[in-house]
Amino acid sequence: MKGVPLNEELYNYIVDTFAQEDDILKGIVKGTEENKIPLIQVSPDNGKFLYLLIKMIGAKRVLEIGTLAGYSTIWMARALPEDGKVVTLEISKEHAEFARSNFNKAGLENKIQLVFGKAMDSLEKLLETPDSKKKFDFVFIDADKENSSAYFEKAIKLTNSGGVIATDNTLKNGNVIRKDVDEGTKGIQLYNEKVANDPRVESLLVSISDGLTISRVK
Ligand SMILES: C[S@@+](CC[C@H](N)C(=O)[O-])C[C@H]1O[C@@H](n2cnc3c(N)ncnc32)[C@H](O)[C@@H]1O
Repeated sequence: MKGVPLNEELYNYIVDTFAQEDDILKGIVKGTEENKIPLIQVSPDNGKFLYLLIKMIGAKRVLEIGTLAGYSTIWMARALPEDGKVVTLEISKEHAEFARSNFNKAGLENKIQLVFGKAMDSLEKLLETPDSKKKFDFVFIDADKENSSAYFEKAIKLTNSGGVIATDNTLKNGNVIRKDVDEGTKGIQLYNEKVANDPRVESLLVSISDGLTISRVK
C-alpha cells in the first residue's frame, strides 16, 4: 500500500498547520456538546477541504443536505464570494434552531438559507424551480446515509456542469468493505459503487477523516 497511515500526532500536525478553528467554529463544537446534540460534524481538515474545493472551482451556489449545528455550512459559506449562497437542508427543529443562531453569530445569516423539513421534499421543491440560474456549483451530502444515492439522483439534476458533489462518511469507519453491515453503511456501499460507475460523473473516494467521495459533474 502506498501512503502514510495517520497517527494522532500527524493528524494534529495537519490540523494545527492548515485547518485551525477560529472562536466561532470552536464555539459551535462546545455548544453542540452542551446542547447534547450529537458531535457528528465534519473534522476541521475536512471542513477546510470543502472550503478549498469550493474556492478552487469558483462556486457561487452551494447546496448542503444535513446541517446539524451549521459547522460545515460555515466552513463552506466562508469560501463563497459576497454574492454567494449556501442552501442547507435540515429535518430536526432543534438542530435547525441552533444552526440558525450559529449563522447569526458568524455574521453569515444573509449568505445561508436553512430549509427546514425532510431533505427529499426540499429537493423536490428545489427541482420545481425552473430557473437554471438557481442550479448549484457544489453539493455536500451529509444526512441519513441510507438515502445517499437517492440524494445524488436529485442533486445531479440541480448541479451545473463542472460542479462537484461531495458525500461524507464514505469509509464508514472502515466498514464500507465489510458484509453484514447496517442500513447506513449499505447505503454508502451502494453510493460509492454508483458514483464510481456513473458516466455522468468522474469520482474518487478521498481518505480524509471518515472518507469523502467527490464527483465532478460532466
Ligand atoms: C452528520 S449530520 C450533518 C453534519 C454537518 N454537515 C456538519 O458537518 O457540520 C446529519 C444531519 O442530517 C440531518 N438529517 C437526517 N436525516 C435527514 C433528512 N431526511 N432530511 C434532512 N435532514 C436530515 C440530521 O438531523 C443531522 O442534523
